[in-house]
Amino acid sequence: MLGKTDKNASWFVVAALGLFFIGGLLTTVAPPLLDKSWSKPFENHDPAKGPTGKLVAYTDQEMRGYRIYIREGCKYCHTQQTRTLLSDTKRSGWKGVDSPVSTPDEFVYDWRQTFGTKRTGPDLSRIGGKYNKQWHKAHFNNPRDLVPGSIMPPFPWIANNPQELDDLVAYLQTRGRAKDWRPDNDYEQ
Ligand code: HEC
Repeated sequence: MLGKTDKNASWFVVAALGLFFIGGLLTTVAPPLLDKSWSKPFENHDPAKGPTGKLVAYTDQEMRGYRIYIREGCKYCHTQQTRTLLSDTKRSGWKGVDSPVSTPDEFVYDWRQTFGTKRTGPDLSRIGGKYNKQWHKAHFNNPRDLVPGSIMPPFPWIANNPQELDDLVAYLQTRGRAKDWRPDNDYEQ
């Protein structure tokens, strides 16, 4: 078999496609079949701590914000996945506590993924509750007013549209809340 693929181009193509297919099955089809927890909403809810720690379906408002996030192409500069790297868990951390790594059960209510691949700006998977609405409004209006040297473009049409601002901020505030991990549970609204 190996000798054949060495000498015969058609055999080589068939073997390469076969191996690619097996790789595809093992990395995309098999994992969710083996681990059912992936398709269930994330939960480590502690009722004593308030509403966090439980992934709930988007409200209508958060869903509108989600659509704005996709419409404006935020995901071309921002990712929404905390990887297993120390640089990720530290960057998304809060008050010295490292943020938890993203898991598939955090994304069950997303109909178009917002993982992103390009980190021109920081990861947003744990941005919920970090800033209040006033901060986001000023930041969308002109990021450089708050972060000198920022290369994020201004989005004045969002900052100056109360409905869209409310919707987008409501969506951003949901990012990472499923995981119950922040000390003091202090979320900005
Ligand atoms: C051209 C790339 C680019 C686009 C498009 C972009 N951003 Fe940014 N964003 C950045 C950069 C760079 C920063 C870091 C500097 C800063 O805070 O302004 C940033 C910072 C942020 C922060 C603060 C993150 C933190 O942890 O401090 C938020 C929130 C944010 N962006 C939201 C958005 C949203 C929502 C959109 C879509 C409406 C968007 N961005 C579109 C590049 C971008």
